[in-house]
Amino acid sequence: MDWNAIHAQATAHMTAAGLQYEDGNADIDGGQHDIDTLAWRRYGILPRMFHNVADIDTSVTVGGRTIATPVFGAPTAYHRLASKNGEITSQNGMHRAGTFIVYPTNASEPVEHFAAEAQGDWWQQVYLFDNRKVSEGFVERSVASGAKALMLTLDCPGYRRDFGFRNGIDGTWEGASGNFPKMHMTDWTLNLATSITPKDIQWLKEISGLPVYVKGVMRPEDAVTAMNAGAAGVMVSNHGRRQVDGVVPVAYALPRIRRALGPDVEIFADTGIRTGGDVFRALALGANAVGLGRPIQWAAAAGGEDGIANMIERITDELAHTMNSAGVSRIADIDESFLVAGQGPSAF
Ligand SMILES: Cc1cc2nc3c(=O)[nH]c(=O)nc-3n(C[C@H](O)[C@H](O)[C@H](O)COP(=O)(O)O)c2cc1C
Repeated sequence: MDWNAIHAQATAHMTAAGLQYEDGNADIDGGQHDIDTLAWRRYGILPRMFHNVADIDTSVTVGGRTIATPVFGAPTAYHRLASKNGEITSQNGMHRAGTFIVYPTNASEPVEHFAAEAQGDWWQQVYLFDNRKVSEGFVERSVASGAKALMLTLDCPGYRRDFGFRNGIDGTWEGASGNFPKMHMTDWTLNLATSITPKDIQWLKEISGLPVYVKGVMRPEDAVTAMNAGAAGVMVSNHGRRQVDGVVPVAYALPRIRRALGPDVEIFADTGIRTGGDVFRALALGANAVGLGRPIQWAAAAGGEDGIANMIERITDELAHTMNSAGVSRIADIDESFLVAGQGPSAF
């Protein structure tokens, strides 16, 4: 993937404030948002011989559904930053590439309009508000619109970070909330729940009748707590490095969580994944599938629905090539034996 070129094209089509919001992160300590990318790439890939790689299969089953590629759209707010039809364009581009997005609570398009216009199945990301009645009302709308699963974000507790809402998209068309038109970005951030307990997982299951995944888990014990509380699976994520300044990379947290949960639990991962090689490393470290956040918005800004479908197909091709040359033909067979820590390209 030539992300420099795609990002340059995206820059030409996004507002300066929108791009700043999209690209921003919490690393005020001199960090950059590519730290997670570098962390994945500290792992070198150790190829294996004497395996038949004539027939490479990149498909995986996620939430009981088979998708063509182990890559889906992580939930990101305000897809209108990147394209006029926002989440509809994103979902349709992903659907063309055989996969889906996790549609955000804080979307540009209201969920009913999104569901009517977008093709294929999608999941609903859930931000809880201090006022659970508001959350319940939104989950009901989402279920009625056809969401197939919920993904509860744990790592954004009434956030106080300022790179988002001081940068100028608050109050603009592209920074307007489709689902809560009266709420400005600042209202949003201040109303997000500051206390989420394991009981909220069960509550969401009960009010929705849907499987509930949890997102933003970085510690093995939290992953175990979530599973014991009835979660369908976990997404290991540091929110694109947008929450904790100086957070550890997901590449560090993921294998520990896989070991704690065992082989059968569905685990997803995101942050900093940009190429098929990155996807391969995340799968080897224990993910069943991975999420892309910013890349979907950049690709949408650069080329709309086509841009997204092409980007996912390209990353999937890169993954297939990596699998072929590393000697593995099924996603389920990619394990830690294919990686060597400290021997990848970013380690030198
Ligand atoms: C602009 C932006 C908005 C985001 N909004 C949300 C959100 O509303 N809910 C959520 O759970 N995560 C949100 N995230 C985090 C993403 O789901 C994901 O964890 C992150 O983008 C992955 O890192 P990547 O952008 O490096 O791929 C957001 C990320 C970005 C970049």
